[in-house]
Amino acid sequence: MIPLLLRQLPPETAHRAAIAALKATPLLGPTAPHPRLNVELAGLSLPHPIGLAAGFDKNAEVPDAMLGLGFGFVECGTVTPLPQAGNPTPRVFRLPEDRAVINRLGFNNDGLALFVRRLAARAQRGGIVGANIGANKDSANRIADYERGLAAVWPHCAYVTVNISSPNTPGLRGLQDRGALEELLAAIMATRQSLASRGAARPIFLKVAPDLDEDAIAAIAETALAFSLDGLIVSNTTIARPADLRGAHRAESGGLSGAPLFARSTEVLRRFFMLLGHRLPLIGVGGVATGAQAYAKIKAGARAIQLYTAMIYQGPGIVRRLVGEVDACLAKDGLNSITDAIGAEARTT
Ligand SMILES: Cc1cc2nc3c(=O)[nH]c(=O)nc-3n(C[C@H](O)[C@H](O)[C@H](O)COP(=O)(O)O)c2cc1C
Repeated sequence: MIPLLLRQLPPETAHRAAIAALKATPLLGPTAPHPRLNVELAGLSLPHPIGLAAGFDKNAEVPDAMLGLGFGFVECGTVTPLPQAGNPTPRVFRLPEDRAVINRLGFNNDGLALFVRRLAARAQRGGIVGANIGANKDSANRIADYERGLAAVWPHCAYVTVNISSPNTPGLRGLQDRGALEELLAAIMATRQSLASRGAARPIFLKVAPDLDEDAIAAIAETALAFSLDGLIVSNTTIARPADLRGAHRAESGGLSGAPLFARSTEVLRRFFMLLGHRLPLIGVGGVATGAQAYAKIKAGARAIQLYTAMIYQGPGIVRRLVGEVDACLAKDGLNSITDAIGAEARTT
């Protein structure tokens, strides 16, 4: 993957070329545990806390290539029960001046059957590969879609993310409202119960939007605890448009990711940590492009980090660079383990 070359191509062509190149790459094994950065996340032993966010490998085609590039964990998806084409193109826009992307893909994916077949085929390879599940756009029963997704991916992944925060499936974010969320999580947890006999327990995470007010954050935190969720991923892309965006495509509709999302997603993360402390692990996502930013999210309460957009601009070398930079941040603070930095900022304020 040569980012400068790929950036001459339209975004989705570049993405397809990157996936094709990664498929042709000889596979390296997953990363060995880092001496100071290894961390436990809801029972998963991460070699270090930097993971690949959902949306890059929607169809579970290259999880092992991404682990081989040095990611500590990889989240495939979002997958929906049935294959779907997504929204009309163009639907992904680079905003290079802002180090940002706007996408309104709308869960384009190959569907659950192929996704599960691919995950099953790589099951013996090790490494932490999660499955991010969603609902079909035209589904008559979205909760049933999540139940179906959970049951299908369960035997083949290390964790499951319930994604209710894509802005590109109309009404999906409504599942974050207290009543709807309770109904969804009751169904998810009942499905989990029925799957308990089929292999070891897997953590279930909920991925939320950054566009949440104080009351919504509190309601989600309470509901997540009440239903014994295993963690929250904070956050998906934003529908907000900061006033200082410069890219020519800034008025396109969809979810904004990358640098302009960093401050807001980190603030929402911090608020969740204030409410939850260490009772529920948090995964910080949004605008991470440097080790200092990853470390800032950890100090705000994240136990692990994910990124996507910065890799579009910096290329896949970003992950090894970030691991080195986070380690340097830790050393500067005189700490011997990343675990000691989690939420440190909240403790001192
Ligand atoms: C092109 C693109 C596609 C995405 N697709 C998904 C998706 O299918 N499911 C999901 O949960 N998040 C998806 N995301 C959101 C990312 O996982 C992440 O939450 C968000 O981009 C913020 O992180 P970043 O600023 O590091 O990119 C997508 C993001 C981008 C840029």
